[in-house]
Amino acid sequence: MHCDYVDGQLTLDGSALAAIAERYGTPCYVYSRAGIEARFRAYDEAFGARAHRVCYAVKANDNLSIIRALGRLGAGFDIVSGGELERVLATGAPAGNVVFSGVGKTAAEIQRALAAGVGCLNVESAAELARIAAAAAATGRTAAIAIRVNPDIDAGTHPYISTGLKENKFGVPLDEARALYRSARDNPWIEPRGVACHIGSQLTTIAPVVAAVREVVALAGELAAEDIPLAHIDVGGGLGIRYEDEQPPAIRALVEALLREVPAHYEVVMEPGRSIVGECGVLLTRVEYVKSTAARNFVIVDAAMNDLLRPALYDAWHEVLPCTAPAPGAHTLECDVVGPVCESGDWLARGRTLVAAPGDLLAVMSAGAYAFAMASNYNARPRPPEVLVEAGGPRLVRARERVADLMRDELERLSEEEAPK
Ligand code: LLP
Repeated sequence: MHCDYVDGQLTLDGSALAAIAERYGTPCYVYSRAGIEARFRAYDEAFGARAHRVCYAVKANDNLSIIRALGRLGAGFDIVSGGELERVLATGAPAGNVVFSGVGKTAAEIQRALAAGVGCLNVESAAELARIAAAAAATGRTAAIAIRVNPDIDAGTHPYISTGLKENKFGVPLDEARALYRSARDNPWIEPRGVACHIGSQLTTIAPVVAAVREVVALAGELAAEDIPLAHIDVGGGLGIRYEDEQPPAIRALVEALLREVPAHYEVVMEPGRSIVGECGVLLTRVEYVKSTAARNFVIVDAAMNDLLRPALYDAWHEVLPCTAPAPGAHTLECDVVGPVCESGDWLARGRTLVAAPGDLLAVMSAGAYAFAMASNYNARPRPPEVLVEAGGPRLVRARERVADLMRDELERLSEEEAPK
């Protein structure tokens, strides 16, 4: 995606963000279809002639138009809930290209996945394997599975998004994985298809992922010797993006490093989310007030933690740019950019130097992943619309929620005694 100033106006792939804000209002998410597709292709092409499936991690951004666009390019999908499965199926993507991850799959979700023909269930515990076997026997369909191994490797990322340490809830230790594969082999309803790992998200170095993949490849080798041949190695997702000054490895460099670890007879499955959509989205927000106190200047905008939770939850840094380039020498403000929600933790950016006045339009950058997807209705705030900039220009791909939508499914019932006379 190309986000730059043209004649003083911030544009995304040639569309002026101010015009999009004018048309669809603020706050508003805007994504670049070209950018998303280019990153998917970068993964796909990095594998060259090696057998592979790039399964986009839907949780990063589950907008149907994005799922559909990636599906058209041949993407598979990594899902973590029945809801994500329905979203993928609604776009017409084949279930066979789906891998189902997650520690808490319900019996109903497993049954639905089997009935739909999901390609592989990534198993996270012995109890889950038993549940899958029971569901498979009940539906009369063999379940293809991979065991998600927890290699106890520090991914060196934020503790909330680190998943490959033994104290994390994810995966099973290597020893237990061996035992689970043996019981899977002996169960006629289970087909051990692969082995999986995913050690964390927003990874900025390659070494921990390579170490994890080395472990699972070794395990697959041992299993083959025990007559449990596996067809694929699922190396997870996790590649980081640039929010501030991070220097994550290039997609190609990561894929090439992983391919060096995986013998060529395995298909490589990969589950990238953030690195496909993260840098390809912005959140547009308008300044409502500038409030100066003895301690701080607050730029109060119309987007809040309910729209973009990452700063409040992870202390995450997102760049904030004015949509109109400030005049040279314009008065700057040392400020915190905060929302209207009634929490002191409701901030989008802190300690910034900005030119900002009421009515100004700001763009919060790198907001394509885990942004709208984590939005809530806290403070009875409807979620923002989503706009996809395509070759033909911007297109609304999700309308702004209305307050009526928030109240629609609520049952307001007073008991007899309380009913108004
Ligand atoms: N595969 C599995 C099993 C995962 O748990 C995840 C992410 C992915 C793939 C995709 O990882 P990615 O390529 O996007 O890093 N909300 C957090 C990120 C949570 C990631 C959860 N798992 C954030 O905003 O930073």
